[in-house]
Amino acid sequence: MKLFDVYPLWDIEPVKAEGCRLWDKEGREYLDLYGGHAVISIGHSHPVYRQMLSDQIDKMGFYSNAVKNSLQTELALRIGDMSGYPEYSLFLCNSGAEANENAMKLASFHTGRKKILAVEKAFHGRTSGAVEATDNPAIRSAFNENHNVVFVPINNVEALKKELATKEYAAFIIEGIQGVAGIHVPDPAYLKAARDLCNETGTVLIIDEIQSGYGRSGKFFAHQHAGIRADLITVAKGIANGFPMGGVLISPAFEARHGMLGTTFGGNHLACTAAIAVLKVMKVENCIENARITGEYLIEGLKGNKAVKEVRGMGLMIGVELNPGYENLRNRLLFEKHIFTGGAGKNVIRLLPPLCITKKDAGEFLEAFNELTEEQK
Ligand SMILES: Cc1ncc(COP(=O)(O)O)c(C=O)c1O
Repeated sequence: MKLFDVYPLWDIEPVKAEGCRLWDKEGREYLDLYGGHAVISIGHSHPVYRQMLSDQIDKMGFYSNAVKNSLQTELALRIGDMSGYPEYSLFLCNSGAEANENAMKLASFHTGRKKILAVEKAFHGRTSGAVEATDNPAIRSAFNENHNVVFVPINNVEALKKELATKEYAAFIIEGIQGVAGIHVPDPAYLKAARDLCNETGTVLIIDEIQSGYGRSGKFFAHQHAGIRADLITVAKGIANGFPMGGVLISPAFEARHGMLGTTFGGNHLACTAAIAVLKVMKVENCIENARITGEYLIEGLKGNKAVKEVRGMGLMIGVELNPGYENLRNRLLFEKHIFTGGAGKNVIRLLPPLCITKKDAGEFLEAFNELTEEQK
């Protein structure tokens, strides 16, 4: 059997990783400013993470959600404590798309409404409902076209007001910072207006913090920079540092009913252990503060470079829009300087490093970036 060929692959196979570094089969070292797509939060192979996971697997790896699992309760308490949402409840699942599916389903259960309002260029995942709320027809099949989702332009309060006034929408869903679209931070005034309009129209406000959350923006959640609160918040990616996991933080206004949501693997013993290790390390090592400080250093260091049209983002979620003629920089960074970065479209480099990145690592990237752009006409 061969693999179903859906990923364009780089001809590199990392086999070892530590902190912000990766090594390939040939022993070549790479600096990781991609974090395996914003997944590695506390750094690769962190000793606390490794120890806690190996201790847990020695005891027990999995049992079903039909029995008590105090690791889930401990995780919920820790997320509540660190996120500023202690009174919310937690539902655990396995991925970002699944978290969004469950959030939209909950909003629909809660309001009895069927439609979802999303923003243009949004990315919420590839499963049935999540892909319908993703503004990319190329990844949607006819089966996904249920016409339950409408898109509005981001930062346009009038368009939002007009749609929500119909009171047809179960939820308005928006990313804390748009990632796949090339890193766009919603205006704080827009998020505040969205909060008010959702309150006025009985619409659930879902904030997808799958990429922007978990400390990456320099606060636990990116929407907290705007001083607002969401009804449902979806998380995944950095939550368990590479162990597959997703979750929904749920406002006390939502009533749980046995059987309304469920999953076989969600919140299993290993995933919860990984997620608890992440929060322990994040707290002790001040990862959120580091994201803010090192992010500012990177953003300032990129400004003024002749290849850079615009630098967007917050903390360690940075989009570098390149001027025409510099579209090859991402590949050059990888193959000539051995630095992994993310991309968005052809002309945006996305920086999504582990939150433990040091100023020295960031400086190494800036030096390499400057060297390459200097060489290029
Ligand atoms: C904002 C956002 N939402 C949802 C998802 C989907 O997450 P997953 O790939 O874990 O299903 C992603 C993945 O890139 C994302 O960036």
